[in-house]
Amino acid sequence: WLTAAGTEAYLSRKLANPEYTKGLDAAQERADEAGMPRIAVPETLGQMLAVLLKSMRAERVLEIGTLAGISTHYLATALPAHGQIDTIEASPEHAKVAQANFLALDTCPFPTTHVGQALKLLRDPNGAFKEPPGTVEGLPEPGYDLAFVDANKDEYFQYFKECMRLVRKGGVIVFDNAIRNGRIAVPDGIKVDSDCVGLRELYDWIEKDAGKTVLASAIQTVGDKSWDGFAIVYKL
Ligand code: DHB
Ligand code: MG
Repeated sequence: WLTAAGTEAYLSRKLANPEYTKGLDAAQERADEAGMPRIAVPETLGQMLAVLLKSMRAERVLEIGTLAGISTHYLATALPAHGQIDTIEASPEHAKVAQANFLALDTCPFPTTHVGQALKLLRDPNGAFKEPPGTVEGLPEPGYDLAFVDANKDEYFQYFKECMRLVRKGGVIVFDNAIRNGRIAVPDGIKVDSDCVGLRELYDWIEKDAGKTVLASAIQTVGDKSWDGFAIVYKL
């Protein structure tokens, strides 16, 4: 019984908060029926993100990579009803499943799903991400409180740069899958896998920044999937 997967199941059982987890089994079934990969965030990470959002009294969230909307549901549920959550999904089929899940789960605030290639949408000079939210309303500190990045691993560094533009000072960017079985830390001279190139660019950038504009951490995890983890970047 001494396994990471068994322990993950134990923790999920013990820590599940019904406000967040109610209906998620059916949501995962919708994803399974649509043939989607079983790579949604585990309950433990979903609720960790919720703890983070609650503790910073977040109202505005950006997610890159919706998949079936399970992470989106955790993120939204941690926001006040008047909050805002924008989520970006490249696959129209996945976005449809996510939409069905948000309706079935009664996700509140209801997420706005943007369907398309994340970088194209984020960089569209006339698009929804032209400027940080709140700029128009003239709030003192425009921008998302938190961005959760969980999309194309090859593009993580480009996502980071867009998130640094869209997240407010004092906001947070969380990257899922930031460890990749330790393949991020290949020694010099060994070929870097494509899913690690962007992460390494991110870690190189943070090293060079030397604490001037960000404060960051990365935590390795084991669990129901494999050895991976998340990175968390605070915008100073
Ligand atoms: C993969 C993607 C994910 O977002 C994840 O959490 C786990 C695995 C993947 O593409 O392999
Ligand atoms: Mg992921």
